[in-house]
Amino acid sequence: MCGISAIASHKPVAAKLLTALQNLEYRGYDSCGMALLHEGQLSLRKNVGAVDEVDALEKFRKMEGSLGIAHTRWATHGGVTKENSHPHYSNDKKFVIVHNGILSNYQQIQRDLKSKGYRFLSETDTEVFSNLVQEEYKQAENVETAFCNAIDKLQGSYAIAMITTHQPDTIFAVKKDSPLVLGINDGVNYVSSDINAFIAETRDTIILDDMEYLLVKNDNYVIKNLLTRKEKSKQVITVQWDRQTAQMGGFSHYMLKEIFDQPQTVRNALHVPNEQIQTIAGKFIEKEQSFCVGVGTTYYVAMVGTYLFSKYANLYVPSISADEFPTLIPVNKDNHVLFFSQSGETYDTRMAIRKARNCGAATSAVVNVVGSSISQEVDDCIFQGSGPEICVVSTKAAVSQIIILWRIALEVGVLRNHLSRKDADAFQGRFFKFSETIGQVLNEESGFIRDLASKTSRVRNWLFMGKGIYYPIALESALKMKEVTYLHAEGLPAGFLKHGTLAMVDEEMYSLFFLPYKDDSDLYNSTLMSIEEVKARNGKVVAFCAEDDDEIKKLLDFGLIIPKTDPELTPLIQLIMAQLFSYYSALNLGLNIDKPRNLAKSVTVG
Ligand code: F6R
Repeated sequence: MCGISAIASHKPVAAKLLTALQNLEYRGYDSCGMALLHEGQLSLRKNVGAVDEVDALEKFRKMEGSLGIAHTRWATHGGVTKENSHPHYSNDKKFVIVHNGILSNYQQIQRDLKSKGYRFLSETDTEVFSNLVQEEYKQAENVETAFCNAIDKLQGSYAIAMITTHQPDTIFAVKKDSPLVLGINDGVNYVSSDINAFIAETRDTIILDDMEYLLVKNDNYVIKNLLTRKEKSKQVITVQWDRQTAQMGGFSHYMLKEIFDQPQTVRNALHVPNEQIQTIAGKFIEKEQSFCVGVGTTYYVAMVGTYLFSKYANLYVPSISADEFPTLIPVNKDNHVLFFSQSGETYDTRMAIRKARNCGAATSAVVNVVGSSISQEVDDCIFQGSGPEICVVSTKAAVSQIIILWRIALEVGVLRNHLSRKDADAFQGRFFKFSETIGQVLNEESGFIRDLASKTSRVRNWLFMGKGIYYPIALESALKMKEVTYLHAEGLPAGFLKHGTLAMVDEEMYSLFFLPYKDDSDLYNSTLMSIEEVKARNGKVVAFCAEDDDEIKKLLDFGLIIPKTDPELTPLIQLIMAQLFSYYSALNLGLNIDKPRNLAKSVTVG
């Protein structure tokens, strides 16, 4: 998984390409590079490391040229080496390309090209393409034809940008199953994997569809269909994200900024038009059986959905992790599957969508990234409008998805006559109040949570437990803790503890309980029993608890006070507080919070 960018301008582009790389770094950050065309000559610099590290070595800004391409890499084919990083030249050094995706038939193409005398300097699938274009150009003697003929030979997924000395004013780009957008400005045009790459320069954008290709110059662009090779006109969209939204806004990390963005992103989720909510809710009625599917954080979002549909619509909607879905679930045309994805590019989720579609099921999705693959693959898609989530770890996107899911569950409840329209509408008002409560909690509780994180900074093992809807909240919170602190945090249902895991509990083991208000008496009392079980084995207990709950406070080693708020929305408040707890725990450990190890922002490999 990688990020690509290209700029055609009448001015030098190196500095702008560098900014684009920095903005795309969340898509991959093990190596990066740039190629520019100046006075009919190509130059290329690339190396291993994060963008700023490579820039310090390679001095990208010193590169000359007003036409260029750039790439930030997350290795899939071949290790993290300078040779494997992009861009990749053709053997004659007249073509140079960047690629995001996977060319599944590259070995075959490589064999053919080797038999014609081509040499390969990297272990990547990508390098075959630059040489393939060189080979095609011999016949075609026209770059566009050579580019298209070469693409015709590719299998797999790709967003590719190419520049060449044969046509030194043009960027050639193509998209299939990997995202690609065009940014339009006066005298300068941009191509990128993501609008965020050039958001500071222009908000006018065109989202490419699969099998479309682009010819981009500084003062014009042409979009063509790859099959017919005929020109197409496409709508220019003005994106609402601005430069400030995409920047850190005074916070020390994107993770913290994005946690604090949540009052706004919840409001954005509440502004998703009712008709869109109703369309997806209708699918739950039309079809015999629906499923909720996501992976990682979005699987836990889907699990929250299972509890919401049960409560508000009296309907059992199983949640399945996308990586298990294709082998586990026998879908058919009477089914509907609702998918969740922040990036809209996750391989496992896309494979689950493919299976659902192939079996004739109806598909819908809640997605954050406009123009992403998943948004284009499902029948109906809601864009949650959370803005760019730069921190690799997902926070604000998940909470917004839960709000949208909640609205869908309420609507399904109405359609199934389980809930009155009046009650469902009343919930909408509670949600708006809730967005204010989140702001209050973040401002008032951060200090206490930070304090707890420093008091527990030596703890190496955690159990995170909850019952009912608090169970998926505990799972997601444990995932956050693992992702940013690399500590062992195991999420489990509180009631499950006595069935084995209790064996792990001693004075070294810390447990975090997601405890509801006392008024939620069944859940409260049964969670309390699990707390007692841990205390009886000298385990340490941290729990969310109400300010006035003196009885529970006596039992706890540490209490995380939850302000008195809407009891039904308390699980979400606890989730947000747990996000902060993970953040401050990682801060104490001095870790790379926004780019934790072994996790990428969009996991486009299986
Ligand atoms: C969690 C995280 C991952 C993603 C998962 C799905 O913080 O980043 O677990 O949630 O890879 O990604 P999306 O939502 O982009 O489909």
